[in-house]
Amino acid sequence: MSELKKIALKILSNGKGILAADESTGTMTKRLESVNVPSTPENRLLFREILFSSESMKDCIGGVILYDETIKQNSTSGKTISEIISSSGALPGIKVDTGAKIFASSNEEKITEGLDGLRERLKEYYKLGARFTKWRGVFNISNKYPSKLSISANAHALARYSALVQECQMVPIVEPELLMDGNHTADDCFNKTSEVLKRCFEDLVAHNVDLSGIILKPNMILAGANSDKKISNEEVAKLTLKCLKESVPKSVPGIAFLSGGQTEIQATENLNLINKYNDTNFIMSFSYGRALQQSALKFWSKNINDIKGTQKIFNHRANMNTFAAQGKWSAELEQK
Ligand code: 13P
Repeated sequence: MSELKKIALKILSNGKGILAADESTGTMTKRLESVNVPSTPENRLLFREILFSSESMKDCIGGVILYDETIKQNSTSGKTISEIISSSGALPGIKVDTGAKIFASSNEEKITEGLDGLRERLKEYYKLGARFTKWRGVFNISNKYPSKLSISANAHALARYSALVQECQMVPIVEPELLMDGNHTADDCFNKTSEVLKRCFEDLVAHNVDLSGIILKPNMILAGANSDKKISNEEVAKLTLKCLKESVPKSVPGIAFLSGGQTEIQATENLNLINKYNDTNFIMSFSYGRALQQSALKFWSKNINDIKGTQKIFNHRANMNTFAAQGKWSAELEQK
C-alpha cells in the first residue's frame, strides 16, 4: 500500500473523521464576533487549542485542518500546534488555497486561487508537521450555474493542486463544494454535483494524481436552504450514495463530507444514514467545521474560562459523529 493511502486511512479509519478548524481569519472573525468575542490572534488560538487538547481527539479525530496562522502559532504550553495534535494520534493538515475570488468574466461565480508558489509553501508546511492539505472549490446552484467555465476552471485548479501536494508526500483533500444556498431541488443538487465530480476526476486523472492517495470532501445531496421541496434524511442518504457511486472512481479510499450549513444534528443524522446504507467500499466519514464547533463555541463565548465545560460539548459532538461514521448513532445517544 502506498504511503499516501496509509495516511488517508489513518485519518479516516475506525469511525474517525476530520476537524475542519481552518477558517480564514476573516471567517473566524465573523464566527467569534457572532458570539461577542473579540477576534484577536490570542482568542483564535485559545478556542482552537481547547478543541485540539480535548479527550475525544484520541478516538474520534484522525486529522485537523489548520489555517496558516494557526500552524505557525505556539501554544500556551510552549508546544507547537502540530505537536499538540500529533500527541493525540491525529495528523495535522493545512488549508493551502488562498480563497475563492469572483471570476473576471462573472459577477457571481468564483475561482479558487493559490497555485502560484504552492510548491514552495507545501515544503514549508511539511516541515511544520502537515501531512495532508485542503483546497476548496465552490459552486452556486441555479438554472445557469455552475457554468461549464466554473466547473472546468475549478476542476483544473483542484487537479494541479493535488498533483503538487502528492509530489510533496502529502494527501490532498479534494473539496468541490456545491453550496446549499438557494431554492434548488435535491434533484438539481444531484445532477450538478454529479457533473462537477465527474469533471474533477477526469482532470485528476489527466494530471496523474494517484486516486488511492486522496480524500474526497463533497457536499451531501440536499435541497437548497430556501427550497420548498425538502426531502427526508433517508432520501438525502440514498441520493448521496447514488451520486457518489456513479461519480467517484473505486480506487478513492475515503470520503469525508463537509457540513455546509446543516445543523449539528442534521449533519450527524445524515452521515449515520449514509453509513447504514453504504454498500460501497468507500469509508464515509466527516470533515466538519461548523457541525463540530458551533455548540462548543457558543458555550465558550459565555464561559471563557471553562475549558473542561467547552471540551465536554466538543467531545459529545465528536463522539456522536464517530458513531455516525459507523452507522451506529441513534437519537437516544444524544441524551446521554
Ligand atoms: P463546514 O462543515 O462548516 O461546512 O466546513 C467544512 C469546511 O472545511 C468547508 O471548507
